Amino acid sequence: SNDELQQRIDKVRQQLGSRLLILGHHYQQDEVIALADLSGDSYQLSQMAAASADCRYIAFCGVHFMAETADILANRPDKLADRHGERVQVVLPDLAAGCSMADMAGIRQIESAWDQLAEVIDTEDITPVTYINSAASLKAFVGRHGGIVCTSSNAKAALEWAFARTSRVMFFPDQHLGRNTATGMGIPLEQMPVWDPYADELGGSTAEQIQASRVILWKGHCSVHQMFRPEHVALARKNHPGIKILVHPECPREVFELADESGSTGKIIKTVEAAPPGTKWSIGTELHLVNRLKQQHPEQEIHFLSPVVCMCATMYRIDLAHLAWSLENLAAGTPVNVIEVDEETAKWSLVALERMLEVK
Ligand code: 13P
Ligand code: SF4
Repeated sequence: SNDELQQRIDKVRQQLGSRLLILGHHYQQDEVIALADLSGDSYQLSQMAAASADCRYIAFCGVHFMAETADILANRPDKLADRHGERVQVVLPDLAAGCSMADMAGIRQIESAWDQLAEVIDTEDITPVTYINSAASLKAFVGRHGGIVCTSSNAKAALEWAFARTSRVMFFPDQHLGRNTATGMGIPLEQMPVWDPYADELGGSTAEQIQASRVILWKGHCSVHQMFRPEHVALARKNHPGIKILVHPECPREVFELADESGSTGKIIKTVEAAPPGTKWSIGTELHLVNRLKQQHPEQEIHFLSPVVCMCATMYRIDLAHLAWSLENLAAGTPVNVIEVDEETAKWSLVALERMLEVK
């Protein structure tokens, strides 16, 4: 039962004390969030891992790319030196907790796209920007090529940083976050070709389209957020006059443009917290977060934007049973599901991640 699992987890916490930090992303289930020491959006969780002072173990309740990022930031050279070379071990309670969006851009595909681009434009004049929802190998690619990592909370600042450097940007893996952010900066859609890694050549664009581009978007998306549709916005407005639509920028442009407000999961929470009682919201993001907001804010009227369930199946894989099992193994000195990024990849990823932490 959950009570037993909680007791097992508490026992390990007592044993490991401040050496253990349990981090939880806002899309985690309530019982996991209740046990986390700290919870946050991707940007906040990166800051927490970067700041981790005396902890030696991070149990990351989230998905694979988040655990990789935590490993890179918690074990950067200055932190390692402070700890006399002792590493922080980052554990992902279920290794099957991946991210389908991150899987839509492989490092070979990115390298091949870059080589193809070099045949029609000067790649010295492109800054690669990767959404944090990507493998460490992509972050390292970006670090090596003068680029930056962004999250949904600093995508605009990251694009501004990139445009101060070069006249073009290549943005991967989420076409929606890239398009929504660039559109908000006044860049026309005609200057945002979408690179399809499965197209025969030039990602499905002509050389002229690439030469006229300002932002080359990658053909990737979040399978959860792409389920929100413009007709859901219309239905919410019809059924609940005065309702405000609040969405995550991973939603498609047609939905994003109809929304009243948008932002990362952290910003969605803050926006609801700051609203007066009686405010009506229809929220377009992962179901667990919306349900938690509903419970925490009975003084407001909160609806889920879609009539169908939009849940992140991989975030959901982390549960108390996996957490208890991985923590007990940590305490027993037989760690399982340790996420450790190799030194060379970590070094270059860190270059791009440090830029991300600077442009907030
Ligand atoms: P944020 O929490 O940074 O908004 O990210 C949302 C998300 O989809 C994480 O995978
Ligand atoms: Fe990936 Fe979307 Fe799940 Fe976030 S919600 S982990 S972007 S699939």
